[in-house]
Amino acid sequence: MASNSKTLSFEEVSKHNHKKDCWIIVNEKVYDITPFLYDHPGGDEVLLTATAKDATIDFEDVGHSDSAIEMMEKYFIGKFETSTLPAKVNHRQPSPTQAHSGGNESSEFVVKILQFLLPLLILGLVFALQSYGKNKDAAPHES
Ligand code: HEM
Repeated sequence: MASNSKTLSFEEVSKHNHKKDCWIIVNEKVYDITPFLYDHPGGDEVLLTATAKDATIDFEDVGHSDSAIEMMEKYFIGKFETSTLPAKVNHRQPSPTQAHSGGNESSEFVVKILQFLLPLLILGLVFALQSYGKNKDAAPHES
């Protein structure tokens, strides 16, 4: 691992976002992966799309092996200054609808209740109509 552990801002890191100069941020660390771009088993494109943002979740979602994690260390160039990460590139912020706690869950609950109640209502209606029909037939005719 490199001894250099300077702290790098988002503004600085995000300038290095092309094939000839590619830095990524993973777990609050900055890696210069330019020499690794073409050797990356997942391809170079995926690495380029992981620049200029916090790529921690992208990296972890792939389920990289321990050897991949070890490999990273030789590209480490410094610590990331997390306070400089703009809110809009902060990975996977909850969407406005998800932000309302339980908003989605409660609407799912209503749908489930309706799915359960609707057939019962239809069944009830059928029985009501049937017994109404029977009562009508059983009623004595006036003439
Ligand atoms: C220094 C950083 C990285 C290193 C050293 C690295 C290394 C590797 C290695 C060795 C593999 C082969 C599978 C394994 O052993 O896990 C791999 C696969 C892959 N990596 Fe990375 N990777 C890095 C960053 C990233 C980032 C930021 C992404 C963004 C999403 C990414 C996406 C992928 C994908 C999509 C695969 C292919 C997985 C598959 O086909 O099964 N990698 N990487």
